[in-house]
Amino acid sequence: MQDLKGLILSGGKGTRLRPITHTSAKQLVPVANKPVLFYGIEAMGQAGIEDVGIIIAPETGEEVKAAAGDGSRFGVKLTYLLQDEPLGLAHAVLTAQEFLSDSPFVMYLGDNLLQGGIADLVAAFRSSEPDALILLTQVPDPEHYGVAELNDGRVVQLVEKPLEPHTDLALVGVYMFTPAVYDAAKSITPSGRGELEITDAIQHMVDGGRRVEPHIVNGWWKDTGRLEDMLAANRLVLDTIDSRIEGELAESQVDGRVVIEPGARLERCAVRGPAVIGAGASLIDCYVGPYTAVGRGCTIENAEVEHSIMLEGAAVRNLAGRMESSLLGRNVTIGRDRRQPRAYRFMVGDNSEIGIL
Ligand code: TTP
Repeated sequence: MQDLKGLILSGGKGTRLRPITHTSAKQLVPVANKPVLFYGIEAMGQAGIEDVGIIIAPETGEEVKAAAGDGSRFGVKLTYLLQDEPLGLAHAVLTAQEFLSDSPFVMYLGDNLLQGGIADLVAAFRSSEPDALILLTQVPDPEHYGVAELNDGRVVQLVEKPLEPHTDLALVGVYMFTPAVYDAAKSITPSGRGELEITDAIQHMVDGGRRVEPHIVNGWWKDTGRLEDMLAANRLVLDTIDSRIEGELAESQVDGRVVIEPGARLERCAVRGPAVIGAGASLIDCYVGPYTAVGRGCTIENAEVEHSIMLEGAAVRNLAGRMESSLLGRNVTIGRDRRQPRAYRFMVGDNSEIGIL
């Protein structure tokens, strides 16, 4: 078989993660202080795929390029492919056709995380040589996913968010294709939401007699497209970290799996892991609870933070209640000041959500 290439989708609109996605790519939101996109690129490298294309959008492409670079630090060669408009996953495949040429390829959604990587899947594809191989996982609520019905080891029917599911096997955001996918992607028409759907392209392959095989994932899989999924992914990854204390602790106590990166300073703090505190962060008189990722250069003073993600430069000060299940964008500040009259004062971007207990 020809050498495999990789395709990572890092375009899209990211409407479900606004306002974060007003100013940044959702694929760059950190999970355990590492952009979610990097997990996908690393998975490619670990599976021995060296030539990887990344679909980018006009608004966020430059930021993605600056973050991932030429790929050398992941052991892969990255080529950026501009998709003018987010017209669907099958449209992204067509956008990449020239780059992928006649190679079979792995397609990986840039906001997805797959425990255990993709080496298994690549091995299955190499040994059985189907026209397409789709990753599936059992879910308790198949009505919320695209699902696949199987017969005799083959995929026979794909259904998007079925009202009455006949299977609990949901499509995971990783696929393998041969160039047979291009004809299928060109034959379908946009769905009700105006996108060329990859499920329609795969169904077209099935209907045309192509061999589409399933591959069931054993470990966890997370699509980080919504806040609660992002927090869940953060939990799953933090559960696997090894403790490492490189910052400075003054009168502070650290329990459980905790990473404190170089240049971070903690004064009179208690940190209960799993948690990660980014380089240069400054924490004073605070409590950081389980499943928290504090980004580079963040500040927490006289406050309690738990089960949250703080992006670079965010600050939380003088809170009376514990902040939890929150995602703070870059340089966001949340605080309480002592001026009278006591009131809430906000300056918040479009589509922000604030919960006051
Ligand atoms: P989705 O999460 O399905 O779509 P989206 O990014 O537009 O988000 P939302 O539904 O919140 O508006 O996309 C899955 C992945 O594929 C994600 O990493 C973005 C990427 N993508 C593209 O690169 N091009 C596209 O045309 C689309 C639709 C998605």
